[in-house]
Amino acid sequence: MKIKELFAKDITRNIQGVVKIGQDDEAVIVNELDEYVVTKELNRHFDKLFESYRKGTTARTDKIGVWISGFFGSGKSHFLKIISYLLSGKEYAGLKAVGYFDDKIADNRILADMKAAGDISADVILFNIDAKSDSDSKVSKDAIVKVFMKVFNEMQGFCGSMPWIGDIERQMSASGAYEAFKEKFAELAGDTWEAKREDFYFEEDAIIGALSATQKMSREAARSWYDKSEANYAIDIATFARRVREYIELCSKQLGKKHYVIFLIDEMGQYMGTDNNILLNLQTVVESLGTECGGRAWVIATGQEDISSIINETKTSRDDFSKIIGRFDTRLSLSSANVHEVIKKRLLAKTDTAADKLRLLYADKSAIIKNLSTFSHDTPEKKLYANAEDFADVYPFVPYQFKLLQEVFTGIRMHGASGKHLSEGERSLLNGFQEAAKLYGESEDGALIPFQASAPPWRPFLTTTSVS
Ligand SMILES: Nc1ncnc2c1ncn2[C@@H]1O[C@H](COP(=O)(O)OP(=O)(O)O)[C@@H](O)[C@H]1O
Ligand SMILES: [Mg+2]
Repeated sequence: MKIKELFAKDITRNIQGVVKIGQDDEAVIVNELDEYVVTKELNRHFDKLFESYRKGTTARTDKIGVWISGFFGSGKSHFLKIISYLLSGKEYAGLKAVGYFDDKIADNRILADMKAAGDISADVILFNIDAKSDSDSKVSKDAIVKVFMKVFNEMQGFCGSMPWIGDIERQMSASGAYEAFKEKFAELAGDTWEAKREDFYFEEDAIIGALSATQKMSREAARSWYDKSEANYAIDIATFARRVREYIELCSKQLGKKHYVIFLIDEMGQYMGTDNNILLNLQTVVESLGTECGGRAWVIATGQEDISSIINETKTSRDDFSKIIGRFDTRLSLSSANVHEVIKKRLLAKTDTAADKLRLLYADKSAIIKNLSTFSHDTPEKKLYANAEDFADVYPFVPYQFKLLQEVFTGIRMHGASGKHLSEGERSLLNGFQEAAKLYGESEDGALIPFQASAPPWRPFLTTTSVS
């Protein structure tokens, strides 16, 4: 049997090394749901998360934050996307997201909580904060609330990049005159409002014309609004939180049931760094959303570190940030053991015949295998196979390779000149293993893959400058 024939799923299938927010056509989503592995640790995380959400939906709460932490490649983005699919309640290829979990989660109570969460009416806003913020906005202390306002506007179909336009669109929509405005605008400008609104400064006549014709506004008032709207626009957190509450109330009224808004933000931790202003801005946003919306608006964010370690690194007193800790009451951390389990299940899972064969092989050759690689006692965590079962799970790799490859990635990221590209690029532990397994696909079973076979993904990053 060749190595490639041992695996339950085709080892050469296309696997995204890292999961990206914004790739959201149905084929990608269905693939992400299909291939998702629920490890022991993730099982606990789903349990905790959906329990908090359920509690939040039955009683008023201000503990509306969920913080997901884990090192690069630990599965934060994939997890966040999965949560967004579950909470959206939408169907993907004819099946609600929870339907993909029937055979992934054994505990019926967790499944019931997940199902209940999907049945709740909610708008799910998933975004990568770095991609959504303007390049200059990080210097401003309003950075976070600006981005929240932008994505909240976009979700409702309003203009995100020019928030003062979003504001007037909201007003027109509330007064029921938005459609009339759009129609009139299209007539005057020769193209739809959505296509033209970002050309705000070139569409003066059509905008003023449509405003004065369809809104309770004189031509002068429309012109004066047009001239001053950008300069007059200011965003503050209290207003933002109020807008979210008003929106939720409006939807609840229209739908005749409770409605929720959930912000899911990838890479919040990296975006904040240890900038106190940004952290304070986030704190005030979650605090205001908590008090204003009472549990109807949620914030679920990811970062490489736990929220309390981020706060410890800032040089401010912890008391200044006590509220953020309180609001992000649900904290889930993804460990390295978790990724190793994912790799074993997603990539290295064997067919039944192959697993039997490998167990027998181990029984037969365990003495030789043990002699092939030995580590001195002072080498930390260089694991070998525990037993035949472990061999069948990990083959054609050797257990120590998981930890070692992870250390290589971390080392390059920290010390390499091009390390940053590795962290932003397509590479992860999972694809290091996939590349190596593909390379040895034609070998007969019994061969072990040497560690250096995992080099292709990281070798390009070892430039002379980065190793010197
Ligand atoms: N539970 C899981 N099931 C299947 N694949 C996973 C799981 N967790 C992570 N992965 C995969 O591992 C790789 C890295 O995950 P990603 O979410 O991009 O990590 P992070 O955002 O923490 O850097 C991706 O290919 C992703 O699909
Ligand atoms: Mg990510």
